[in-house]
Amino acid sequence: MEFFIDTANLDEIREAKAYGLIDGVTTNPTLMAREKDDWRSIAKAVCAEVDGPVSLEVVGLTAEEMVAEAKALVAFGSNVVVKIPMIPEGLKAVRSLSDEGIHTNVTLVFSPLQALLAAKAGATYVSPFVGRLDGIAQDGMQLVHDILTIFNNYGFATKVLVASVRHPRHVVDAATMGAHVVTVPFNVLMSFAKHPLTDAGLETFLADWKKVTGKE
Ligand code: G3P
Repeated sequence: MEFFIDTANLDEIREAKAYGLIDGVTTNPTLMAREKDDWRSIAKAVCAEVDGPVSLEVVGLTAEEMVAEAKALVAFGSNVVVKIPMIPEGLKAVRSLSDEGIHTNVTLVFSPLQALLAAKAGATYVSPFVGRLDGIAQDGMQLVHDILTIFNNYGFATKVLVASVRHPRHVVDAATMGAHVVTVPFNVLMSFAKHPLTDAGLETFLADWKKVTGKE
Protein backbone atom coordinates (compact mmCIF):
# COMPACT_ATOMS: atom_id res chain seq x y z
CA MET A 1 0.00 0.00 0.00
CA GLU A 2 1.26 3.45 -0.85
CA PHE A 3 0.96 6.43 1.51
CA PHE A 4 0.52 9.85 -0.03
CA ILE A 5 0.48 12.92 2.17
CA ASP A 6 -2.49 15.24 1.74
CA THR A 7 -0.88 18.64 2.11
CA ALA A 8 0.71 21.54 0.28
CA ASN A 9 2.91 22.33 3.28
CA LEU A 10 6.59 21.82 2.49
CA ASP A 11 7.66 21.45 6.13
CA GLU A 12 5.16 18.63 6.63
CA ILE A 13 6.30 16.98 3.41
CA ARG A 14 9.96 17.18 4.45
CA GLU A 15 9.23 15.77 7.90
CA ALA A 16 7.15 12.87 6.53
CA LYS A 17 9.94 12.22 4.05
CA ALA A 18 12.50 12.04 6.86
CA TYR A 19 10.49 9.16 8.37
CA GLY A 20 10.56 7.43 4.97
CA LEU A 21 6.81 7.43 4.99
CA ILE A 22 5.73 9.17 1.85
CA ASP A 23 5.26 7.71 -1.59
CA GLY A 24 3.58 10.79 -3.07
CA VAL A 25 1.62 13.97 -2.37
CA THR A 26 -1.92 15.13 -3.05
CA THR A 27 -2.91 18.78 -3.03
CA ASN A 28 -6.13 20.63 -3.78
CA PRO A 29 -7.14 24.31 -3.97
CA THR A 30 -8.14 24.32 -0.28
CA LEU A 31 -4.75 22.96 0.81
CA MET A 32 -2.96 25.48 -1.46
CA ALA A 33 -5.03 28.31 0.06
CA ARG A 34 -3.67 27.46 3.55
CA GLU A 35 -0.10 28.25 2.46
CA LYS A 36 1.47 31.72 2.32
CA ASP A 37 3.64 31.37 -0.77
CA ASP A 38 2.55 31.66 -4.38
CA TRP A 39 0.94 28.37 -5.47
CA ARG A 40 3.31 28.07 -8.44
CA SER A 41 6.42 28.12 -6.27
CA ILE A 42 4.80 25.64 -3.88
CA ALA A 43 3.91 23.30 -6.75
CA LYS A 44 7.42 23.48 -8.15
CA ALA A 45 9.07 22.92 -4.76
CA VAL A 46 6.79 19.99 -3.87
CA CYS A 47 7.49 18.29 -7.20
CA ALA A 48 11.23 18.70 -6.65
CA GLU A 49 11.05 17.47 -3.03
CA VAL A 50 9.07 14.29 -3.69
CA ASP A 51 10.16 11.38 -5.86
CA GLY A 52 6.65 9.97 -6.26
CA PRO A 53 3.48 11.34 -7.87
CA VAL A 54 2.28 14.84 -6.94
CA SER A 55 -1.40 15.62 -7.61
CA LEU A 56 -2.06 19.22 -8.68
CA GLU A 57 -5.67 20.22 -9.30
CA VAL A 58 -7.22 22.10 -12.20
CA VAL A 59 -9.96 24.67 -11.58
CA GLY A 60 -11.42 25.06 -15.08
CA LEU A 61 -14.91 23.74 -15.66
CA THR A 62 -14.75 22.87 -19.35
CA ALA A 63 -12.69 20.06 -20.85
CA GLU A 64 -10.77 22.56 -22.97
CA GLU A 65 -9.87 24.67 -19.93
CA MET A 66 -8.88 21.59 -17.90
CA VAL A 67 -6.67 20.22 -20.67
CA ALA A 68 -4.96 23.59 -21.12
CA GLU A 69 -4.37 23.88 -17.35
CA ALA A 70 -3.13 20.29 -17.22
CA LYS A 71 -0.51 21.03 -19.84
CA ALA A 72 0.72 23.97 -17.78
CA LEU A 73 0.71 21.91 -14.56
CA VAL A 74 2.83 19.07 -15.98
CA ALA A 75 5.59 21.61 -16.59
CA PHE A 76 6.14 21.74 -12.80
CA GLY A 77 7.67 18.27 -12.81
CA SER A 78 7.73 14.89 -14.50
CA ASN A 79 5.91 13.46 -11.45
CA VAL A 80 2.79 15.65 -11.78
CA VAL A 81 -0.57 13.89 -11.75
CA VAL A 82 -3.36 16.20 -12.89
CA LYS A 83 -6.33 16.21 -10.53
CA ILE A 84 -9.61 16.53 -12.40
CA PRO A 85 -13.06 16.93 -10.80
CA MET A 86 -15.58 14.14 -11.37
CA ILE A 87 -17.93 16.05 -13.67
CA PRO A 88 -18.87 15.13 -17.26
CA GLU A 89 -16.45 17.72 -18.72
CA GLY A 90 -13.79 16.26 -16.45
CA LEU A 91 -14.26 12.83 -18.01
CA LYS A 92 -13.73 14.34 -21.45
CA ALA A 93 -10.53 15.96 -20.22
CA VAL A 94 -9.33 12.69 -18.66
CA ARG A 95 -9.89 10.83 -21.95
CA SER A 96 -7.89 13.40 -23.86
CA LEU A 97 -5.06 13.62 -21.29
CA SER A 98 -4.89 9.86 -20.95
CA ASP A 99 -4.55 9.54 -24.74
CA GLU A 100 -1.58 11.92 -24.50
CA GLY A 101 0.04 9.90 -21.70
CA ILE A 102 -0.67 12.48 -18.97
CA HIS A 103 -1.53 10.92 -15.61
CA THR A 104 -4.78 11.91 -13.95
CA ASN A 105 -6.44 11.65 -10.54
CA VAL A 106 -10.22 11.96 -10.71
CA THR A 107 -11.28 13.67 -7.51
CA LEU A 108 -14.54 14.25 -5.61
CA VAL A 109 -15.71 10.69 -6.26
CA PHE A 110 -18.74 9.77 -4.16
CA SER A 111 -20.32 6.82 -5.98
CA PRO A 112 -19.17 3.52 -7.52
CA LEU A 113 -20.53 4.54 -10.92
CA GLN A 114 -18.54 7.77 -10.91
CA ALA A 115 -15.43 5.65 -10.31
CA LEU A 116 -16.38 3.26 -13.11
CA LEU A 117 -16.84 6.13 -15.57
CA ALA A 118 -13.50 7.65 -14.54
CA ALA A 119 -11.74 4.31 -15.04
CA LYS A 120 -13.33 3.88 -18.46
CA ALA A 121 -12.15 7.38 -19.38
CA GLY A 122 -8.58 6.25 -18.59
CA ALA A 123 -7.96 7.76 -15.15
CA THR A 124 -4.71 6.76 -13.46
CA TYR A 125 -6.29 7.19 -10.01
CA VAL A 126 -9.78 7.72 -8.63
CA SER A 127 -10.18 9.44 -5.27
CA PRO A 128 -13.22 8.39 -3.23
CA PHE A 129 -13.72 10.87 -0.34
CA VAL A 130 -14.51 8.57 2.56
CA GLY A 131 -14.60 11.07 5.44
CA ARG A 132 -17.00 13.42 3.69
CA LEU A 133 -19.40 10.50 3.01
CA ASP A 134 -19.21 9.36 6.64
CA GLY A 135 -19.95 12.98 7.55
CA ILE A 136 -23.36 12.76 5.88
CA ALA A 137 -24.15 9.42 7.53
CA GLN A 138 -23.15 7.31 4.50
CA ASP A 139 -20.47 4.62 4.47
CA GLY A 140 -17.25 5.84 2.91
CA MET A 141 -15.44 2.51 3.19
CA GLN A 142 -18.33 0.65 1.56
CA LEU A 143 -17.74 2.90 -1.45
CA VAL A 144 -14.06 1.88 -1.52
CA HIS A 145 -15.05 -1.78 -1.30
CA ASP A 146 -17.53 -1.42 -4.20
CA ILE A 147 -15.00 0.39 -6.40
CA LEU A 148 -12.31 -2.23 -5.75
CA THR A 149 -14.76 -5.02 -6.59
CA ILE A 150 -15.78 -3.35 -9.86
CA PHE A 151 -12.18 -2.64 -10.88
CA ASN A 152 -11.13 -6.22 -10.05
CA ASN A 153 -14.13 -7.69 -11.90
CA TYR A 154 -13.13 -5.97 -15.13
CA GLY A 155 -9.38 -5.72 -14.74
CA PHE A 156 -9.13 -1.90 -14.72
CA ALA A 157 -5.60 -0.60 -14.15
CA THR A 158 -6.96 2.54 -12.44
CA LYS A 159 -5.74 2.76 -8.84
CA VAL A 160 -8.03 3.50 -5.90
CA LEU A 161 -6.65 6.42 -3.89
CA VAL A 162 -8.58 6.65 -0.62
CA ALA A 163 -8.98 10.34 0.26
CA SER A 164 -10.66 12.50 2.90
CA VAL A 165 -9.20 10.19 5.54
CA ARG A 166 -10.16 11.22 9.06
CA HIS A 167 -8.70 8.54 11.33
CA PRO A 168 -6.48 5.42 11.46
CA ARG A 169 -9.49 3.05 11.16
CA HIS A 170 -10.08 4.33 7.61
CA VAL A 171 -6.52 3.31 6.75
CA VAL A 172 -6.75 -0.13 8.39
CA ASP A 173 -9.98 -0.81 6.47
CA ALA A 174 -8.48 0.48 3.21
CA ALA A 175 -5.43 -1.79 3.67
CA THR A 176 -7.61 -4.79 4.53
CA MET A 177 -9.62 -4.23 1.37
CA GLY A 178 -6.48 -3.88 -0.75
CA ALA A 179 -6.90 -0.22 -1.76
CA HIS A 180 -3.81 0.86 -3.68
CA VAL A 181 -3.14 4.20 -1.98
CA VAL A 182 -4.33 6.27 0.96
CA THR A 183 -3.70 9.98 1.18
CA VAL A 184 -3.52 11.24 4.73
CA PRO A 185 -3.03 14.58 6.44
CA PHE A 186 0.30 14.78 8.30
CA ASN A 187 -1.27 14.65 11.80
CA VAL A 188 -3.24 11.51 10.91
CA LEU A 189 -0.10 9.93 9.47
CA MET A 190 1.85 10.55 12.67
CA SER A 191 -0.97 9.18 14.83
CA PHE A 192 -0.44 5.75 13.23
CA ALA A 193 2.82 5.31 15.13
CA LYS A 194 1.29 5.91 18.56
CA HIS A 195 -0.16 3.36 20.98
CA PRO A 196 -0.68 3.88 24.73
CA LEU A 197 0.64 0.36 25.49
CA THR A 198 3.87 1.21 23.64
CA ASP A 199 4.33 4.31 25.82
CA ALA A 200 3.42 2.49 29.03
CA GLY A 201 5.68 -0.45 28.14
CA LEU A 202 8.62 1.84 27.38
CA GLU A 203 8.14 3.74 30.65
CA THR A 204 8.29 0.45 32.60
CA PHE A 205 11.37 -0.77 30.73
CA LEU A 206 13.20 2.49 31.41
CA ALA A 207 12.22 2.50 35.10
CA ASP A 208 13.33 -1.12 35.49
CA TRP A 209 16.63 -0.41 33.72
CA LYS A 210 17.33 2.29 36.32
CA LYS A 211 17.05 -0.44 38.97
CA VAL A 212 19.60 -2.52 37.05
CA THR A 213 22.10 0.32 36.67
CA GLY A 214 21.41 1.45 40.28
CA LYS A 215 22.99 -1.83 41.43
CA GLU A 216 26.26 -1.07 39.59
O1 G3P B 1 -7.18 15.75 -1.13
C1 G3P B 1 -8.52 15.48 -1.15
C2 G3P B 1 -9.13 15.02 0.16
O2 G3P B 1 -8.28 14.17 0.87
C3 G3P B 1 -9.75 16.12 0.95
O3 G3P B 1 -10.07 15.73 2.24
O4 G3P B 1 -10.39 16.45 4.55
O5 G3P B 1 -11.00 18.02 2.72
O6 G3P B 1 -12.39 15.99 3.15
P1 G3P B 1 -11.01 16.60 3.20
